[in-house]
Amino acid sequence: MVDRSFRLIFLGPPGAGKGTISAMAAERLGIPHISTGDMFRAAVKSSTPLGLEIKEILARGGLVPDALTIALVKERLAQPDTVRGFILDGFPRTVPQAEALEELGGIDAAVDFEVSDELVVFRLTGRRICGSCGAIYHVANKPPQQEDICDRCGGRLTIRNDDRPETVHARLAAYHAETEPLKSWYGARGLLLTIDGAPDAETVYRSFTVRLEHFLAER
Ligand code: AP5
Ligand code: MG
Repeated sequence: MVDRSFRLIFLGPPGAGKGTISAMAAERLGIPHISTGDMFRAAVKSSTPLGLEIKEILARGGLVPDALTIALVKERLAQPDTVRGFILDGFPRTVPQAEALEELGGIDAAVDFEVSDELVVFRLTGRRICGSCGAIYHVANKPPQQEDICDRCGGRLTIRNDDRPETVHARLAAYHAETEPLKSWYGARGLLLTIDGAPDAETVYRSFTVRLEHFLAER
């Protein structure tokens, strides 16, 4: 499955497991994992002009304006490491973003991880993130070996700013209003691959690799 290019986008609500499965798949496929959320959080952390502009939007769980987001992704996709493909995690999130991505060359598959709103709340309220390397944990589903310490780099685990319950509900509302319509947008173009995101991460990952191989072979 590694002898071709993969231009993939990961759709799905907050907490669907996009970041978790991206990390596993990007390593296996040898393609970059590009998360607009990670890029925005890095900009906020370093207080760049972009970071200062979007800090409040992220804190309240809204969407960053399309023009800013599209410009960031355009610049990132121009980097040479994307030549064999990429996983775009969390982009596009609106129809104008999807249209812009088509103009940038399009994709091979839009992978949608389906998870209920109840599971989203459980996963996000228990999520922990390494403040140094960004590795993703969960207090019940994927605890670190040593409490609050990253297994990978020894960094300290933190709670993401936007994982507070009231912000999670705002993010879910933005997802249902702005991003969920992309399922039919990509479905109408024959690009949608739907994966049940509810089982454990290993099972979701296996289902993703098997289904993606068949999906791409049939196109
Ligand atoms: P972003 O960082 O993309 O957040 P999100 O879409 O809300 O998704 P999350 O990162 O919260 O969840 P995930 O699906 O990656 O799940 P994870 O693998 O971590 O965006 C943040 C913000 O940036 C947005 O709100 C917006 O403001 C802005 N933004 C970003 N992109 C934008 C765009 N294109 N346009 C405009 N604004 C944009 O898993 C979650 C938890 O569950 C973890 O604890 C994990 O260990 C656990 N878990 C994962 N999978 C499983 C499993 N299968 N079984 C059990 N537990 C699991
Ligand atoms: Mg994520």
